Amino acid sequence: MTHLAGYFIETAYLLAASLFIFSLHWMSDPKTARRSVIAGSIGMAIAVLSTWARPEVTRHLWILLPIVVAIGPGIWLALVPLTAVPQRTALSHAFGGLAAGLVGTAKFIYWFEHEPEMLTGFRTGAIVAEVILGYLTCTGSLIAAAKLQEVKWIPQRPWTYPGQTLVNFGALALAIVLGAALVMNPTASWSPWAFAGVVLLSLNFGWMLVMPIGGADMPTVIAILNAYAGLAAVAMGFVLDNRLLITAGALDGSSGLILSIIMCRAMNRSFANVLFGAFGQVQQKSAGGEQKHYRPESPENAAQIMEQANLVVVVPGYGMAVAQAQHKVRELYDQLVKRGIRVKFAVHPVAGRMPGHMNVLLAEAEIPYSDLVEMEEINPEMPHCDVCLVVGANDVVNPAARSDPKSPIYGMPIIDADKARTVFAIKRSRNPGFAGIDNELYFGDRTWMLFGDAKAVVGEIARALGDGGGH
Ligand code: TAP
Repeated sequence: MTHLAGYFIETAYLLAASLFIFSLHWMSDPKTARRSVIAGSIGMAIAVLSTWARPEVTRHLWILLPIVVAIGPGIWLALVPLTAVPQRTALSHAFGGLAAGLVGTAKFIYWFEHEPEMLTGFRTGAIVAEVILGYLTCTGSLIAAAKLQEVKWIPQRPWTYPGQTLVNFGALALAIVLGAALVMNPTASWSPWAFAGVVLLSLNFGWMLVMPIGGADMPTVIAILNAYAGLAAVAMGFVLDNRLLITAGALDGSSGLILSIIMCRAMNRSFANVLFGAFGQVQQKSAGGEQKHYRPESPENAAQIMEQANLVVVVPGYGMAVAQAQHKVRELYDQLVKRGIRVKFAVHPVAGRMPGHMNVLLAEAEIPYSDLVEMEEINPEMPHCDVCLVVGANDVVNPAARSDPKSPIYGMPIIDADKARTVFAIKRSRNPGFAGIDNELYFGDRTWMLFGDAKAVVGEIARALGDGGGH
């Protein structure tokens, strides 16, 4: 590589790394999130193109073939519906982990066969870290994606057996011991066998780590696997002597870790509780027991009551995403605001199925950000709220989180919908939410149920208001 080309590539890498940092910074605010995506995409384009410009890459033109072949599935994967983004993200991590693992494997085999002097202790250590993290991320993420997609042959419930923690961590410890032996003797005649052992144990540890975790914790697990994938990329950066990979991997790893901490806090869980809390537990599905009494109401009557309100708080949840009801919610918002009624959207940090799920949907419907209120901010206002409209939310408004120590969601901060003067809750059936438990809110003496698809029901309320509030 000429001096000029090297200078050009290093500058491009610096530019890409800066764009990644700005992208993460802008992602923290909905107002700048779009800019963040553009900056991240440009950064990635610069990173990929400048890597392709390296002579050692341009020498192998055949590499263009797999790149072209991969573009099609990549676009197809990007076009999944928003509700499937968590499992799509898990698949991306699986591919990222696999790529890191394969690069580490190829480098070890090549250097062992052709350039054993390259296998220094440091490089071998980086390869071992890359391979362990890469392969465990790959199989762990595949199981996480399958659980989120509710694939039939993978149980949603925690899959447990006695002594599981010991077996799992025994496998990881053995992989680390073999890795340490490799670092000390990278070129010994038995090294390829030890390396194969590390690969197999890491592949096994990944799926064994995720199988005992219930479907409800998968989004958090994905964030943790994201952190592992980032660390695998850092190790790969050291193996390939690529500074951009080290920077991008560190950003990816730390942001994944921070995200998982935020999610754990929002659910009042610890890391250890997410990773091991499901051991031996089987979540209770509701059903059975005494049938409690719901009070159904019509959208027209709900419209009449809303018309009298000063403050309406809308609590969106996963059901709004499934029904794609956000545009109808916007119509309702317009009708209420036109009448001088204050409308706030109470956004719970884990409403829906991924971080920021509700924010994205409400932004898509162009609901002003200033009317989106976080849980801590809205809760003190709830006793003064005339009407709380729950749109396909369940667990995030379940008072059992406050009052029932036996509940699986006990301790999770919730939106205090039950403290509002009147509650209208939209859902299709008596089925429970994600945690599989009943919700006392729906049986409360101030709650009326609006049974039906969220898009249709919200649309009918908005129409009734448009027609004159059901008068
Ligand atoms: P859920 O508790 O999952 O409840 C969603 C409700 O929407 C269900 O009760 C369902 O009842 C209803 N629904 C589904 N489709 C509908 C439709 N087309 N029209 C109307 N209603 C519909 O949702 P939530 O309150 O948003 O809570 C999120 C859950 O996911 C929490 O347990 C949370 O811990 C978990 N989780 C989320 C995240 C992130 S990052 N968001 C991460 C980890 C875990 P019907 O079937 O009767 O309609």
